[in-house]
Amino acid sequence: MKNRVMHTAGAQETIALGQQLGSLAQAGMVFLLEGDLGAGKTTLTQGIARGLGVSRTVKSPTFNLLKIYEDGRMPLYHMDAYRLEGVNQDLGFDELLDGDGLSVIEWPQFVPALIPEEYLKITITLAAEDERDLLFEAVGQVYEQLLEELK
Ligand SMILES: Nc1ncnc2c1ncn2[C@@H]1O[C@H](COP(=O)(O)OP(=O)(O)OP(=O)(O)O)[C@@H](O)[C@H]1O
Ligand SMILES: [Mg+2]
Repeated sequence: MKNRVMHTAGAQETIALGQQLGSLAQAGMVFLLEGDLGAGKTTLTQGIARGLGVSRTVKSPTFNLLKIYEDGRMPLYHMDAYRLEGVNQDLGFDELLDGDGLSVIEWPQFVPALIPEEYLKITITLAAEDERDLLFEAVGQVYEQLLEELK
């Protein structure tokens, strides 16, 4: 399965979906999270972190660009590229993202050089005040497999 659409009613459902993603994630995977401000990218990441067993609270890394959570079953690299719009510089993050953890990138369109050949892209759109549509696009066999396993 290459594409899939899911719907959530309330942040808790998005967190639960993220938790499944975190449980299914394998080391080296990259998840790209697209969607407007307030769409729910960080909320989904909170669930992903929980699914990895991270116990620290995941907050928006906007002022840090990258936050690393190392207390789960693998490192979580949470990047928010929002402030990198128009900054076409090698920030040296690519080595990190190739590593042994799970990379979750908010606003990936602002760091095109970091996007690997294979990834799972999740585009979140507002359906109603507390409802979101999540479009999953899997590029690569491992991500297609992951999409099959999502309940
Ligand atoms: N179904 C839902 N899924 C996710 N978040 C929801 C949902 N319903 C309401 N919300 C609320 O929407 C907000 C989403 O904020 P969040 O910080 O996750 O967005 P974001 O996409 O990361 O934004 P930014 O681009 O500013 O980083 C939260 O306040 C959350 O509680
Ligand atoms: Mg965010």
